[in-house]
Amino acid sequence: MKIAKFMVTMLGAAAMTGCCCNECDDKECEAQACSKEQTVIENIMTRRSVRDYKEEPVCREQMEKILECGIYAPSAMNSQGWAVRVVDAPDFIDGVTAIAKEKMPQMCEQPGFRNFFRNAPTVAFIAVPDESYSGEFDSGLLAQNMMLSAWSMGIGSCCLGSVIPVMNSEEAKPYLERLKLPEGYHLQVAIAFGYPAGENPEAPARDYSKAYYIE
Ligand SMILES: Cc1cc2nc3c(=O)[nH]c(=O)nc-3n(C[C@H](O)[C@H](O)[C@H](O)COP(=O)(O)O)c2cc1C
Repeated sequence: MKIAKFMVTMLGAAAMTGCCCNECDDKECEAQACSKEQTVIENIMTRRSVRDYKEEPVCREQMEKILECGIYAPSAMNSQGWAVRVVDAPDFIDGVTAIAKEKMPQMCEQPGFRNFFRNAPTVAFIAVPDESYSGEFDSGLLAQNMMLSAWSMGIGSCCLGSVIPVMNSEEAKPYLERLKLPEGYHLQVAIAFGYPAGENPEAPARDYSKAYYIE
């Protein structure tokens, strides 16, 4: 059975029967395991890239928890080859936005445009070592842990690859320097965080043919 379809079927089965997987005889333990499974799967399946945020930055206590979840991601040989910098300073966000506007004026014509980070009030910049065979993969796992833990707290997020060329531009040098990245690291991606202002977007279509069993 295709994996994604399998997950959806599991969710449906769990909703109907209250359980789906464990062979545990202890009903209480079975129910607990099942509810945990449903919570995790529902969190994964309902997370969407949010591009419409309230103005208020993410509460720093919640952001600390999100960061902790990030650094608990697996990494090759536990190398933890990442550097994460969280910014919620309006002058930083507005300053980079002003640079981006110069470079991509059409961008600020989008309805409701407030800033270059999909209007997010809080942005995490993720950097990886220049020389690392696993840096991109490790930082991807860190990023996903951060986004999923955020979503479990009602905080939206969106990966932003488009931010990187602007951050690496000559004009944005003072902002890049403010991130105080370790020597030999470069920015990999930014993640927008904030409290969603609108409805959760529909999931863009997924291609189930990409993942299947080989018998
Ligand atoms: C590495 C990476 C870079 C991305 N860059 C951008 C970006 O620059 N702007 C944007 O709006 N979304 C960006 N996204 C979000 C994707 O468009 C989004 O994840 C995809 O369309 C699937 O939608 P979903 O996240 O709602 O499931 C990026 C996602 C990833 C993983």
